Amino acid sequence: MTGHGQGGLGQHDPMLPHLGRLVGKKDLGTDIKLFQVEMVETAGKDCFADYLPGQFAFVSAMGIGEAPFGIASTPSRGDALEFGIAKVGSVTAALHSLEVGEIVGVRGPLGNGFPMDEIRNKNIFVLGGGIGGVPLRPFIMEILDRRSDYGHLTILWAARRPSLLVFTDEYESWRSATDTELHVTVDEGSEEWMANGGNEGLITRLLEAIDPSPENAVTITCGPPVMIHFVTLMLNELGFSPDQMWTTLEARMHCGIGKCGRCNMGEKLVCMDGPIFRQDEVNGFLESYL
Ligand SMILES: Cc1cc2nc3c(=O)[nH]c(=O)nc-3n(C[C@H](O)[C@H](O)[C@H](O)COP(=O)(O)OP(=O)(O)OC[C@H]3O[C@@H](n4cnc5c(N)ncnc54)[C@H](O)[C@@H]3O)c2cc1C
Ligand code: FES
Repeated sequence: MTGHGQGGLGQHDPMLPHLGRLVGKKDLGTDIKLFQVEMVETAGKDCFADYLPGQFAFVSAMGIGEAPFGIASTPSRGDALEFGIAKVGSVTAALHSLEVGEIVGVRGPLGNGFPMDEIRNKNIFVLGGGIGGVPLRPFIMEILDRRSDYGHLTILWAARRPSLLVFTDEYESWRSATDTELHVTVDEGSEEWMANGGNEGLITRLLEAIDPSPENAVTITCGPPVMIHFVTLMLNELGFSPDQMWTTLEARMHCGIGKCGRCNMGEKLVCMDGPIFRQDEVNGFLESYL
């Protein structure tokens, strides 16, 4: 497995991207696409031969710029790197316009990854909101691939609208996995969604209805800051303590390797100390993030 922060970078200048070829591209939701990238050169393949669920990488659109994205795949399921990318600005729009066969730059893997050892044998509650579901997918894959290492898995999946729910084509495989349940909700259901009996309401309402037991349990949350805020409050009310809760945080980043200070939050650098933090590590500065 790669090390903390700069895993897999070897002797290569960590600010220089490796070349990757776009080998697949499909819609995940409205203005959200899944990209499959294969590294072109041996050095790039070596960097991404092994990486942790929860790590991220910078992907660059040639001549436009680069941006950080959670790696949505796991190395155990194939060589191609996957990224789920929402179109929000110049880099993401340029990436969305690429065709299969075109070249991108990729540098990483970066960041700490999910605490797979610390949560072994625990019951796990995964809470994903909108595009925040993307970095959670390799976490879910990892648990399903090593099912007997972990306790019961409950996935709570949410988005503002049905068209913004990511990885809907994987729901069936999650639902049918041993000792695993999936609950999905949207803030605002479409006519079709409601006619099919879909849940409508915030993820906190779903959480309240499920009423999870904190005993031998951990939570992993990834979503927009406002969701993290209210989910954290509710988990506190439900009796979860800060050392049972992990959150993925986002920050504007430049270098991704602890050099520029751009992603600083309190005493932490999101690119090096995160992006995944245990609640008791971030309690001091989470208010400024929200
Ligand atoms: C560790 C990490 C993992 C990420 N993983 C994903 C992912 O898996 N999928 C995905 O679609 N996006 C992800 N992002 C967010 C992604 O990096 C931004 O959407 C991207 O940088 C936008 O670039 P742009 O040039 O297209 O838009 P810009 O023109 O730079 O910005 C467009 C809009 O997005 C906002 N924005 C840009 N970056 C961020 C950010 N880091 N946090 C909050 N708002 C931002 C800007 O304020 C602006 O309103 C991640 C960010 C980080 C730090
Ligand atoms: S992005 Fe430069 S220190 Fe984190």
